[in-house]
Amino acid sequence: MLEEKLTENFSSLLRENRVFPAPADFAAKAHIKSESEYEALYRRSVDDPEGFWGEAASELEWFAPWKKVLEGEFPDAKWFTDGKMNLSHNCVDRHANGALKDKVALLWEGEPGEVRKITYGELHGEVQKFANVLKNIGVKRGDRVAVYMGMCPELAIALLACARLGAIHSVVFGGFAAHAISDRVNDSACVAVITQDTSYRRGSEIKLKAIVDEALQKCTSVQHVIVYQRSGSPVNMVEGRDLWWHEAVAAASAECAPEWMDAEDPLYILYTSGTTGKPKGLVHTTGGYAVGTYLTTKYVFDLRPDDVYWCTADIGWVTGHSYVVYGPLQCGATVVMYEGAPNWPQNDRFWKIVDDHQVTVFYTAPTAIRAFIKWGDQWVKGYSLASLRLLGTVGEPINPEAWMWYHREIGKERCPIVDTYWQTETGMHVLAPIPGAIAAKPGSATKPFFGVVPEVVTKEGDPVPAGQGGLLVIRKPWPAIARTIYGDHARYVSSYFSEIPGSYFTGDGARRDEDGYFWLMGRVDDVINVSGHRLGTMEIESALVAHGKVAEAAVVGRPDEMKGQAIAAFVTLEEGVEPTDALKQELRQWVAKEIGALARPDDLRFTQMLPKTRSGKIMRRLLRELATTGTVSGDTTTLEDFGVLAKLKETDE
Ligand code: WTA
Repeated sequence: MLEEKLTENFSSLLRENRVFPAPADFAAKAHIKSESEYEALYRRSVDDPEGFWGEAASELEWFAPWKKVLEGEFPDAKWFTDGKMNLSHNCVDRHANGALKDKVALLWEGEPGEVRKITYGELHGEVQKFANVLKNIGVKRGDRVAVYMGMCPELAIALLACARLGAIHSVVFGGFAAHAISDRVNDSACVAVITQDTSYRRGSEIKLKAIVDEALQKCTSVQHVIVYQRSGSPVNMVEGRDLWWHEAVAAASAECAPEWMDAEDPLYILYTSGTTGKPKGLVHTTGGYAVGTYLTTKYVFDLRPDDVYWCTADIGWVTGHSYVVYGPLQCGATVVMYEGAPNWPQNDRFWKIVDDHQVTVFYTAPTAIRAFIKWGDQWVKGYSLASLRLLGTVGEPINPEAWMWYHREIGKERCPIVDTYWQTETGMHVLAPIPGAIAAKPGSATKPFFGVVPEVVTKEGDPVPAGQGGLLVIRKPWPAIARTIYGDHARYVSSYFSEIPGSYFTGDGARRDEDGYFWLMGRVDDVINVSGHRLGTMEIESALVAHGKVAEAAVVGRPDEMKGQAIAAFVTLEEGVEPTDALKQELRQWVAKEIGALARPDDLRFTQMLPKTRSGKIMRRLLRELATTGTVSGDTTTLEDFGVLAKLKETDE
């Protein structure tokens, strides 16, 4: 599998020779001003990780000091052992009690256009009140609380309130369907759900509360549902279970001291796709995650006190956890949150927000940039964008054309671009340029962040020479790595630490060039990346076979200009079922209903059989090739039935 994927990925390698040095005026004011300064600090971080990370941690507030910065090795490394702290204290109280009390912490814009500004002082009050609401319904330290909301300040407040009490939040992205919520709620036995009536997206309302009601029919652990009133649209409130956010907050006391959390206590669970049908509930802990997100935000975004920082990611994904909530708030930034779609009411909405709020740091996904390019430069032209000083991307490799457009049309050839590579598992950026120090090469995530030791290796774990592709691993623990998969530590160990013993295996292919720059080459497992959203092909397959008319299904990713990857499904039907176009649409819709619209297959083909090896394994390489090119040229000697290929081609759309 690994080898097969690598060979495929190598054939689509990016080759890009342009280099864009950090602009001199930017570097002069940056935290880290030159490559040699980066190199020296990097060397120190690797030679003396305890000294380096201990100093970083000292920039935060601890209730009790740690005994040891780093203890143990993969997969059981522990950070800041016995140290006590609280993330809501470091995100909010630390600033509210100091010079930033009246600074805007959250600057929110709703899709219909309303704006709310919440200062650190006000946020302090809101978080304490909502923490008391949770306390009043019996939520306590260690309890799991699911959160299913749209992008609004209350979502950030909900997370911070959980963190304050030591309750473990589990955010389910608002685009997931009822079934996905119930699976996640049940997996970690959540005691409460925080949601809202509806949320606005592209002018229509997403009925979040109604979806929660449907999901909870299959959940027994949930005692309470708290509903934030966003739109006022009617919802069904279940007597004894559901309560309104505003009513509960009005009755709650204004003071709630933060719990003293152990550095290794869980902060949250976030489910992500793996190579099986069951999403993994990755568990992030308190101290190491706090320090990792704090330091990467400070250095990779070169954050300064006067920055207005906007990461467009939804808080439902890890990017929103680390770089909308925990990182920038720990840094005391003004964090912009926008509720809706980039093309509502028109394609210029993002640029209008940048100008209206004088955004200085803007962080988005390549898939969004490709959409802007498609919509045309005219949507950007009317805006000055002069407030911007740094741009970032995340989630997938950025193609050099998109990079150049971003650089020219948005950054006006003035702003450095940070291409940040990381994962739900890593918690923080692991490869990313330090903007005042590292020259950018379009399409490369450049160099490791401090303390991160990446390497490109063969299947056997041996380093490959510069310029050659291989598997991307990380050799040494870093503080923000997820510590386990909720309820399944064995799966954690086998998923990440068994492929290359002694190292963390990312699941990505990469190559390192002669200058030490890393170039990501896509996943080498069955995870696909659709519009920057991570999905497992097995999850989609399980959803398809759960439909009564489907006998077997195989799902692969194929390259797509806009989305990065598109979803191609091959389906065999139960005996006697007619393969009609109507059924095709029904099955695509079925997947959207089971998982969420983001998982709806782009292509769906019926076939009488799936190509299998003699040992019965589906030959995904052939399917990928067929989905991509419409033909198959590779080695088919292990194919069980050559006739299958001919049949697959016949049913090609
Ligand atoms: C991919 C998102 C290339 C990669 C933060 C990784 C990237 C997966 C980049 C994690 C990047 C993320 N360049 N590929 N800058 N950033 N990826 O867990 O395949 O949703 O393994 O975390 O996205 O996706 P996840």
